[in-house]
Amino acid sequence: MDPIQIAPGIYSVGVADWNIRDFHGYSTDLGTTYNAFLILDEKIVLIDSVKKEFADDLMANIARIVDPRKIDFVVSNHTELDHSGSLARIMHRVGEDKPLYCSKMGAKNLARHFPQKWNYQAVGSGDELKIGKRKLNFLETRMIHWPDSMFTYLAEEGILFSSDGFGQHYAGPERFDDEIGDRIMLHAKKYFANILLLYAAHIEKLIRQVAEMKLDLRMICPDHGVIWRKNPGRIVEAYLKWCRQEPESKAVVIYDTMWHSTEKMAEAIHAGIMAAGVSSKPMHLRTWDRSEVMTEVFDARAVVVGSPTLNNGLFPTVADFLCYMKGLKPRNKIGAAFGSYGWSGEAVKLIENDLADMKIELVQPGLRAQFVPERPILDACHEFGKKIGQAVAGASTAGSQAAAKSAA
Ligand code: FEO
Repeated sequence: MDPIQIAPGIYSVGVADWNIRDFHGYSTDLGTTYNAFLILDEKIVLIDSVKKEFADDLMANIARIVDPRKIDFVVSNHTELDHSGSLARIMHRVGEDKPLYCSKMGAKNLARHFPQKWNYQAVGSGDELKIGKRKLNFLETRMIHWPDSMFTYLAEEGILFSSDGFGQHYAGPERFDDEIGDRIMLHAKKYFANILLLYAAHIEKLIRQVAEMKLDLRMICPDHGVIWRKNPGRIVEAYLKWCRQEPESKAVVIYDTMWHSTEKMAEAIHAGIMAAGVSSKPMHLRTWDRSEVMTEVFDARAVVVGSPTLNNGLFPTVADFLCYMKGLKPRNKIGAAFGSYGWSGEAVKLIENDLADMKIELVQPGLRAQFVPERPILDACHEFGKKIGQAVAGASTAGSQAAAKSAA
């Protein structure tokens, strides 16, 4: 990925990871980018670095603009290794004694990743760093995405360097939101649903605090994906909406199957939901990656989960997905469980326990079928789906009335 000038004297110098397909358990079908930014003023500043394997590419990109040894300050907005992995190489080249700006937690966390005794300069919200005609302002943004995360703001250009915030796992020819169009919102939503959802309530508060600062926001530069320049407010508004976790009137039927029995149940349940006039998507867990399923769960009202019983427990892919979903703490859902079994049949109860732990309201008693479901059982599945669909429709109507009442 070539370096490009994004504003006078400000360059995007990061790299594309075209071939990554699994980012710690998140499917990255289109790869991702690790963005880094170079600011040339009286002082020269590098904001963030890239994954260790791409250190040479980052150094080459910087060298096309300026001798890396001339960099005066390095800013680390976030410690996770996709952004700090090449710091050792960078600091060695830039100068081990050059100031390395990061949050207080960033200094602690970087020290636990790297043995070098770097010249950490811990900064907090409101701190300012003059770099010549311009200055950088720091803003701690804990849990977007780690406790060390911070944003760096360049007021004179209206640029917010937002680290993981507002990112997307996307690598393509486009470098800006206006070049890719609306489909970037799907990538941004998947990223939010799988990486930041757990912290939604906290992120909403943080974004509202930032909004109250009434920053001149002409560009948002995340560390993954394209830069938001056409209408940066759009992704900020989207985050506020996503943080509220207001579900859409739709259901997702998530399952795995051993001999197609649970699959037959899933199809009949899906048809029943649709018969109630509610959109539904069946998702087989060995066809769909967990992060794609989670993206559907994120804005669905109903989460219906099915598993065969295997060795007195859940099918492994279902256990995997429930563990993943539980960690992300989705809110405002209803749900139900189903599955086929041979003789013991514990899976449905285990799913219900997990859904209840996630505060997902169970709107139907779990539905089990022994061995192969015949017509009467499939009819029961259809009816089960229909009732779930009616519950979704009812919840959506109640939600719309409540919204209209609060707006009135
Ligand atoms: Fe892109 Fe939390 O690292």
